Amino acid sequence: MKVLFVGDIVGRNARNFVQKKIIELKAQLKLDAIIVNVENAAGGFGVTPLICDDFFNAGADILTTGNHIWDKREIISYISKNDRLLRPMNMIEGTPGVGITSIKIDAGIIGVANVMTNLFMSRTDPVFNKIPEIINSFRLSANVDFALVDVHGEASSEKMAIGYALDGNVSAVVGTHTHVPTADYQILEKGTAYITDVGMSGDYNSIIGMNKEDALNRFMFPNDKKSKLEVSLGEPTLCGVIIESHTNGLSKSIKPLRLGGRLEQTIL
Ligand SMILES: [Fe+2]
Ligand SMILES: [Fe+2]
Repeated sequence: MKVLFVGDIVGRNARNFVQKKIIELKAQLKLDAIIVNVENAAGGFGVTPLICDDFFNAGADILTTGNHIWDKREIISYISKNDRLLRPMNMIEGTPGVGITSIKIDAGIIGVANVMTNLFMSRTDPVFNKIPEIINSFRLSANVDFALVDVHGEASSEKMAIGYALDGNVSAVVGTHTHVPTADYQILEKGTAYITDVGMSGDYNSIIGMNKEDALNRFMFPNDKKSKLEVSLGEPTLCGVIIESHTNGLSKSIKPLRLGGRLEQTIL
């Protein structure tokens, strides 16, 4: 299968750009599935039901999130009814929504899991306790043809450790949350595609997607409660990875995709 994963959408410009691009890319690159992390899609904080519907209508198959999932309260009733929008699976028991799912698409069955790491992140259950559940839920070439895990977290060590813990059991482990793409995309020893962070889809003339002045003031004047973070509205870059898998569900290749904005462009 050929699957596009797009990193954290930050705000309206990135949202509109990515929705337009995924419609084109699906046909142009003959993508079998598209997965998008939308945790910052609504003004940088959270996501709304309407935004989710727009991404599904543009061709996204599954949406993942992270620590910002509950920033817009109206998402609670939506996620309770829609298991194609995921929240981290290691949120405490009883949290609305699900963190792991599999769906049927034209090319077969894809499984997606979303976890949040523990270091420097808001509190969740220990992420490594979820590894057996992921391995047991996704059996490549038995109950799923392709399986991807979005590891939402700050610490690169923790994300790499999850990559190695899942190597050979899933098609891909992709990192999100830091909003900066890393250059370590590779196929791990046992056949799992891996990248520590896909990077955000947003304006890179910013501080992780937010207006530079606002974000800088927060560091310079931490006691000034008036400073409010706003999404930086310059030209966005779509940051993603394209993963190609073998028929056995393990991966052949993982390639970065950067389109638009300030970052060096990848050639399709
Ligand atoms: Fe994010
Ligand atoms: Fe995040």
